[in-house]
Amino acid sequence: MSIQTTEDYVFQTYLRQGRPFVKGEGTTLTDDQGKTYTDFLAGIAVCNLGHCHPGVTKAIEHQAKTLVHVSNLFYTRPQADLARELVEKSFADRVFFANSGAEANEAAIKLARRYFQRKGEKNRYRIITMTQSFHGRTMATLTATGQDKIKEGFYPLLDGFSHVPFNDFSALEKEMDDTVCAVMMEPVQGEGGVIPADPGYLAKVRQLCTNTGTLLIFDEIQVGMGRCGTLFAHQDYGIAPDIMTLAKALANGIPIGAMMATADAAAGFDYGSHATTFGGTPLATAAALEVLKTISDHAFLKEVEEKGEYFRARLNRLKEKYPKVVDIRGKGLLIGMELDVSSGKGAGDFVGDCFKKGFIINGIQDKVLRFAPPLTVKKQEIDNLVAALDSLLQGENH
Ligand SMILES: Cc1ncc(COP(=O)(O)O)c(C=O)c1O
Repeated sequence: MSIQTTEDYVFQTYLRQGRPFVKGEGTTLTDDQGKTYTDFLAGIAVCNLGHCHPGVTKAIEHQAKTLVHVSNLFYTRPQADLARELVEKSFADRVFFANSGAEANEAAIKLARRYFQRKGEKNRYRIITMTQSFHGRTMATLTATGQDKIKEGFYPLLDGFSHVPFNDFSALEKEMDDTVCAVMMEPVQGEGGVIPADPGYLAKVRQLCTNTGTLLIFDEIQVGMGRCGTLFAHQDYGIAPDIMTLAKALANGIPIGAMMATADAAAGFDYGSHATTFGGTPLATAAALEVLKTISDHAFLKEVEEKGEYFRARLNRLKEKYPKVVDIRGKGLLIGMELDVSSGKGAGDFVGDCFKKGFIINGIQDKVLRFAPPLTVKKQEIDNLVAALDSLLQGENH
């Protein structure tokens, strides 16, 4: 019923699979026929605390009964508290709230341009981003995205964006000049194939931006909020950006985005220069406060790192066993398994086969299996998925 209705009435922009889901609890999703699945995708790195986390549900319930929305022309306690917590736990001094990742990035792009316009440097508007990056689907963020397939049919794009290969410092250095206002990148590329930045590379990028007075923007929409074993992925690299964007896991499934900046960079916006109706509603920020409290706990993050290492070690054993597996990479609990797809099954086939066995995973770039389970995933659940992958790879061998 829901399937046909969706196919009849919703824009056909998503290729969906399976039966409609009716319930989520922790790492388990249940469909309308009672079949259960272990979720190794978490809404694509959204439900980092698992589905219907009791603490977050309680916070939403309480806030829904108290105050759901007022305009940003007024003050509310949850928004103020969340902004303070985010600032205290990061490099940033100020937060702008949005409703999605694309909107948070849109705000970052606008801030970078306006920062230099306000300083009288009118020609400093170019933004350098990375090939294979993903920053969203609005016109500015798809222009920023370093993947041609995302741009198809939407030309002409915005002026002033260029792309250089990720992890290639000399390419970035060559592209840099006094018309560049910002360098924008994901510390670990998600949609691009789960590719972490080399530590030396990020340090050099930071130095180059500092030396040239260019703003460094980190898109942590997929990799922030504990996903990589630290609250924000860049914290493991020992450097900080001038601007950072968050969304996805910030409220564990309630839509929210955040653009955070140092006091200096934040001076690019003043009264009236940017706004959105729903950004930072009491409901979303109350949920996010609970998420932030839980995820920023040191012991919780240490466990994410340990489980990530355990998961990668188990997958590396599959790599030793099967030539089909060519690389295991990632950070924390964002893990990519690259397959040799020159013959036999592709990533999409493995996603479908895992689904039949009751595991939700995802395929990217046609050849990479992406695992992004709730950070609360148990080792036993990791073992179960690895066993399922083992038997599928075994089948490929015959
Ligand atoms: C790194 C990154 N940036 C931006 C976005 C866009 O976020 P949203 O889909 O909430 O607009 C995504 C979504 O996948 C992402 O992974």
